Amino acid sequence: EKGGYENFMLKEIHEQPKAITDTFRGRLLAEENMIKMSSIEDNLDRFLNANRIIIVACGTSWHAGLVAEYLFEDLARIPVEVEYASEFRYRNPIITDKDVVIAISQSGETADTLAAIKLAKSKGAFVYGVCNVVGSSIARETDSGAYTHAGPEIGVASTKAFTTQITVLTLIALKLGKANKSLSDEVFKNYLDKMQMIPKQVEQLLKIDEHVKSIAAVYKDSKNCLYLGRGFNFPVALEGALKLKEISYIHAEGYPAAEMKHGPIALIDENMPIFVIATNKGHYEKVVSNIQEIKARAGKIIAVVTEGDTQVRDIADHVIEIPDTEEALTPLLTTIPFQLLSYHIAVMLGRNVDQPRNLAKSVTVE
Ligand code: F6R
Repeated sequence: EKGGYENFMLKEIHEQPKAITDTFRGRLLAEENMIKMSSIEDNLDRFLNANRIIIVACGTSWHAGLVAEYLFEDLARIPVEVEYASEFRYRNPIITDKDVVIAISQSGETADTLAAIKLAKSKGAFVYGVCNVVGSSIARETDSGAYTHAGPEIGVASTKAFTTQITVLTLIALKLGKANKSLSDEVFKNYLDKMQMIPKQVEQLLKIDEHVKSIAAVYKDSKNCLYLGRGFNFPVALEGALKLKEISYIHAEGYPAAEMKHGPIALIDENMPIFVIATNKGHYEKVVSNIQEIKARAGKIIAVVTEGDTQVRDIADHVIEIPDTEEALTPLLTTIPFQLLSYHIAVMLGRNVDQPRNLAKSVTVE
């Protein structure tokens, strides 16, 4: 059942090209230059007339929600707020029937997320679910929704569920952006073409496993790690840190790169590895200067860069290259090396990667 892999996590990491393709199926119709999603078409007015979209989720799914905030605002120009379901539900939040709430949940059973959508419904909001498990409580409770077609995710640490959540949310953002004309036909077409290339690019990235493993070997005994990214890749930094914490038990923090100088920079010395996402489109020059600040304090830099990069390569201790794509789509690629890195560090430390201590696959209690 592990398909020849040592554990479910590794299998699920490697299933991502297929999982993303399955999530595209019947939806991403590049030849017809359209995205077909009846759950959006049937409720188009609710989305296009929404005052704002409120995204509720927990954990990794919340990170997918943060990526979606950048996607919806950039591609469809719809204001978005992203909330931890546990905070949202107890805050006496302001919700009206002009709001659209999107709940993101792999399991569809997370207690706080379920309670948040019940609250939103009671205030008249339209509630849309992005779930993986078919027929789950959240899928049933929402007014409409779209499934990620990741297939069963057994490993406790979420991998393919995250990338397929981002896939669905990108399709929705593109569809809405086309519908409200935030995106020209030409720009929309280009996104569809670039989206279609993602599964192959993920496949290509999975082949650098040995390189990532060699980096893992260098940093596996670190006590603390930092993950930095900006824009679309800020949430990827948070997710990278979470993945390392949960399966290796190494303390890690994710930050927007520019926040460094507001505190975390005090932590940096020669024992601190810093994983930085520095793809060529997203605020590249600014990230480069963040990297220089870290190097000046003797921190170790492991940079995720775009293929062919030379500027960061010159100053970083290690680089990991991702294939070129649109900036908005980079999270689907930059996530992959961080999954592999956490995986290898955890295995080298003898951890049970599929069932990390103290964690459960679905959190059905608050
Ligand atoms: C992290 C992880 C958790 C879940 C969180 C939400 O790898 O698995 O942080 O993402 O418990 O779970 P779902 O998506 O099932 O609502």
